[in-house]
Amino acid sequence: MSQKYNDTAQNRDRFTITAALPYTNGPIHIGHLAGVYVPADIYARYLRLKGKEVAFICGSDEHGVAISMKAKKEGTTPQEIIDKYHGIIKKSFAEFGISFDNYSRTSAEIHHQTASEFFKKMYEDGKFIEEVTEQLYDEEAQQFLADRFVVGTCPKCGHDGAYGDQCENCGSSLNATDLINPKSTITGSIPVLKETKHWFLPLDQYDSFLREWVIKGHKKDWKPNVYGQVKSWVDEGLKPRAVTRDLDWGIPVPVEGADGKVLYVWFDAPIGYISSTKEWAAREGKDWKPFWEDSRLIHFIGKDNIVFHCIIFPAMLQAHGDYILPENVPANEFLNLEGNKLSTSKNWAVWLHEYLEDFPEKQDVLRYTLTANAPETKDNDFTWKDFQSRNNNELVAIFGNFINRVVVLSQKYYNGVIPQAGTFSEVDKQTLQELKKYPEIISSSIEKYRFREASQELMNLARLGNKYLADEEPWKVIKQDEERVKTIMNVALQIAAGLAVVSEPFLPFTSEKLKQMLAFSKLESDLQWNDVAEKEILLPSGHTLEKASLLFTKVEDEEIQKQLEKLEATKKENNAAQKGETAEVVPQKDTITFDDFTKLDIRVGTILEAEKMPKADKLLVLKVDTGIDKRTIVSGIAEHFKPEEIIGKKVTVLVNLAPRKLRGVTSEGMILMTENSDDKIVFINPDESEVPNGKTIN
Ligand code: 2FM
Ligand code: ZN
Repeated sequence: MSQKYNDTAQNRDRFTITAALPYTNGPIHIGHLAGVYVPADIYARYLRLKGKEVAFICGSDEHGVAISMKAKKEGTTPQEIIDKYHGIIKKSFAEFGISFDNYSRTSAEIHHQTASEFFKKMYEDGKFIEEVTEQLYDEEAQQFLADRFVVGTCPKCGHDGAYGDQCENCGSSLNATDLINPKSTITGSIPVLKETKHWFLPLDQYDSFLREWVIKGHKKDWKPNVYGQVKSWVDEGLKPRAVTRDLDWGIPVPVEGADGKVLYVWFDAPIGYISSTKEWAAREGKDWKPFWEDSRLIHFIGKDNIVFHCIIFPAMLQAHGDYILPENVPANEFLNLEGNKLSTSKNWAVWLHEYLEDFPEKQDVLRYTLTANAPETKDNDFTWKDFQSRNNNELVAIFGNFINRVVVLSQKYYNGVIPQAGTFSEVDKQTLQELKKYPEIISSSIEKYRFREASQELMNLARLGNKYLADEEPWKVIKQDEERVKTIMNVALQIAAGLAVVSEPFLPFTSEKLKQMLAFSKLESDLQWNDVAEKEILLPSGHTLEKASLLFTKVEDEEIQKQLEKLEATKKENNAAQKGETAEVVPQKDTITFDDFTKLDIRVGTILEAEKMPKADKLLVLKVDTGIDKRTIVSGIAEHFKPEEIIGKKVTVLVNLAPRKLRGVTSEGMILMTENSDDKIVFINPDESEVPNGKTIN
């Protein structure tokens, strides 16, 4: 670890843990949980159990183009959007037990103030370049285009949908003017270049700092995926980056001559970690400063945020000078869902609020599945089958089964009062020794940010308990040797208590339930992480347990089927929408006058009879009730509909079309039709029940 830079806190027991501030432009899904919030929460809970001083900080990221765009799309204001989603997101985090010490929002006064001061200090210290440059401008919308207001081809990887600040395909951080063939996402028009003044952070001046601090200093302790990305960006050469924008939504640039300009969202958002810490400290009557001056700062993020947390924000912190740099940035890769990329716009996601409707009280199952299969070193796939199997084969069959046996048998044999152990056998001693090793085994994985591995070690501890009971068979031994069973149950109960403690970071709801069953509240002092290894016994004899209840229940095939069907329906909708988008659109016909239009007499009717026209493959002869009369219409739909299918259907009929003879039958009108996205012919039919025949359409 580098000694030269301010990332080595003197106080090794104080931690500032941040989790990426989610944009409030939509609810959150399993990808967010798996990539950022569950690992961050495991880490924070673990450190608290180790007796460390922890500030676990997050909040909503409420500025930026993502929010303005959502508001435009929904025909509402950014304020309404952020209020709506801030509430939904905050609730989801609480429901999944994400134990933030503070969840703030960047629209808060404290944040505006903190970010403005941060900018002002850098400005006064001459850390910015002020420059008039040509930026992309949408003449139709009369607006400068940056970030997500502009898309184009990525100059690095050739991806077509790159944004003005970042390509999500290759992760490159871009300037809007770098894009090839840029296009406005507001109006679809091709932007022009127009002059405007902005403040730039000269990242090129931080080249040697970044080389020294990350490339030399963190080669060994940062995850290879994070280190590799940073190195390649620095090696490519860093360029000055604008930290202000011409927008009306955000934090006003706090210097003279900056009217109509706001701070770039990626300038203000990470400062949100500082303002959220301030808000928390003020509420708790603490001093926030030690958490930014002498603390171990760890940023939990997804891989698309690496450049901002490992290059731009550290350069800002370094330039500002008062604060610590991150000690580590354990970014995760992405989670996919059933083989496809999670996507908010395509609704390809498992939304947290919807999950809880289908699986109430199964928060820990999702936390566990997402941890056991976390995208730590590469993108990973969430499948409902894996979810079911993690639940049924691990949580129910191993963890739950062990606990249930221990508590039920203790109630049955001893009315829940823990018996005194007799002489320990070799197996007992070994098992207790094994138990004591687990806190260290799990710690070691957590401290290396290997949460998958840690969750598997937790399950191994449950396996140890399960195997011990299966081998010792107290339910059989009880018939011959009641004294021996007392020892077996005592040992098993110590394992159960150990599990209650070390499972807390991973399965907080389960751990809580288990602690209740084991009546932890009646113990002299609360058990902490290290107690599991250090205390001779965790639960004393004579301690009375509470009633047993099931920790986990099976997930049935039908429940999984329902989820898969939901996804299948989404897939179909997306395919249909895509076809619709790409369908060839016939050019508009010549203009007609209003009088021309009023000449058309279009009415609602009902098909009364339908039969095939003899010797004609395509024609059906229909009898239609037009409300005026019952007339014959010949229609070329025989290849698309069987006669019996369409009898009784409401249709739209052009009734004043000049009659014409088709195969000797006079047709008096035309039924209106179109094609759906599957190229199938469909009627233009009004609501079946509400519109009577003969009603005109105009
Ligand atoms: O990618 C995102 O969702 C951003 N809103 C993350 C911001 S993290 C921090 F810097 F605030
Ligand atoms: Zn790219």
